Amino acid sequence: MANPYIRIARLKDANSFMEYTQSLDIDLPMDEKLQVGSQSPLAQSYSLKSGRQIGNRFCILPMEGWDGTDDGSPTDNTKRRWLNFGRSGAKLIWGGEAVAVRHDGRANPNQLMIQENTLKGLEDLRTALVGVHREQFGSTDDLVVGLQLTHSGRFARPNIKTKLEPKILYHHPLLDDLFGVDPDQPVLIDAEIEALVADFVVAAKRAYQVGFDFVDIKHCHGYLGHEFLSSYSRPGKYGGSFENRTRFLREIVAGIRSIVPGLEIGVRVSAFDFLPFRSGPDGVGQPLEYRDEQGKYPYAFGIDPNNPLEIKLDEVFTFMQLLKSLDIELVNLSCGSPYYNPHTMRPAYFPPSDGYQPPEDPLVGVARQINTVAEIKAQFPDMAIVGTGYSYLQEWLPNVGQYVVANQMVDFVGLGRMVLSYPEMPADVLAGKPLDRKKICRTFSDCTTAPRKGLISGCYPLDEHYKDLPEAEQLKAIKAKL
Ligand SMILES: Cc1cc2nc3c(=O)[nH]c(=O)nc-3n(C[C@H](O)[C@H](O)[C@H](O)COP(=O)(O)O)c2cc1C
Ligand code: SF4
Repeated sequence: MANPYIRIARLKDANSFMEYTQSLDIDLPMDEKLQVGSQSPLAQSYSLKSGRQIGNRFCILPMEGWDGTDDGSPTDNTKRRWLNFGRSGAKLIWGGEAVAVRHDGRANPNQLMIQENTLKGLEDLRTALVGVHREQFGSTDDLVVGLQLTHSGRFARPNIKTKLEPKILYHHPLLDDLFGVDPDQPVLIDAEIEALVADFVVAAKRAYQVGFDFVDIKHCHGYLGHEFLSSYSRPGKYGGSFENRTRFLREIVAGIRSIVPGLEIGVRVSAFDFLPFRSGPDGVGQPLEYRDEQGKYPYAFGIDPNNPLEIKLDEVFTFMQLLKSLDIELVNLSCGSPYYNPHTMRPAYFPPSDGYQPPEDPLVGVARQINTVAEIKAQFPDMAIVGTGYSYLQEWLPNVGQYVVANQMVDFVGLGRMVLSYPEMPADVLAGKPLDRKKICRTFSDCTTAPRKGLISGCYPLDEHYKDLPEAEQLKAIKAKL
């Protein structure tokens, strides 16, 4: 079925954009005019409680490229992406990309790993990013660079690109079925989780040694950290109660504080999740059905189990309170998972190969993320909060970004896909330059389709570097057969 929604590029001015969002009946506020220079809300620095300054309100979200070596070291493609992050002008770099704390936690055989033998490569990535930022923007005193630490859990593919080797915390009636988890597969036992906690702590120490300002203990997108938060049905000390479901995080934080007290800690969390979606008969995404004997869907964090397409933030607020009590100030709010409900987290006009036609105008998904983040920010005004999902706004990203920052709906505008196609967008906006429309991400999703088909990720349609690689031809051939 053809996508019925209006493309953003066809909305020629701010009025048309605003009229269109009104017609969708969504609340997506924006400033019609962008402020430039030191007066711009996006140019304001942010002071962390430690005294560290973050020089502006753009944050580069973590994005991996499926382009590391077999042993988990960066390649030239990885370095190029990190250089682009440095050239962007954003002053908060959230982790660069997901880096596995050990081999069985890799999301693909080319994911970076943090081990003794890969440390020099990771150090070089950070140094290169900081170096290019210094060359272009002068100061790096107000540049904060973190590293995202992960175990991919249910979505681990450490050895073969096409073969899931899941590590699960509990059996999930829908995800087990969708992703072929054997009903007899054992769940991780508590002792294995304790060993994994130790791996995260060692990884954090290594990140500190090579100069990262913070580590993110990843809790989003269906990976292991996120799965803990929905482990309602798991017995024992890591499941059931809120206290048990957050024990993994608390133990990692305690471990890091005891051996690297100087290292800042951040958390990227999926603030809500929905039922898994799959393509319906017309190709449009639809939620799967599930109810337990009580009529509930007790397998997702941040939603109402009685109505699993309805956000419910009670536990999210408790989680934020926990972060606060752990002295964690940096929080990056995302949602859902790219594997089972991608339209929620990466609103796109064109779905990736394993996706479905959008079940809603992608702007509805953008507004959902922005307004949920604003609701959380209102309750936690003194936490440094990064929002996600802005790329679909395309030419209106700076206008919406300026409004939400100026109105304390969020502290940092996170950029994901946009920075793959148009790395200099933050610098252009801050300098008051007109946007380069040829570089604006149009959410073609090739950066997701390519890795789903075993190729390196990148912006094939708009970035000359990827256009010229042999992989571009392979991707074209694969897409022609879809
Ligand atoms: C190619 C690609 C790789 C990604 N890798 C990561 C990752 O390593 N860690 C993570 O937390 N999110 C990852 N994401 C999600 C992004 O950080 C971001 O949440 C998402 O793209 C939505 O933001 P956007 O609308 O600005 O693209 C990735 C997204 C893409 C497109
Ligand atoms: S491939 Fe390029 S244009 Fe398409 S979604 Fe990714 S970054 Fe955007």
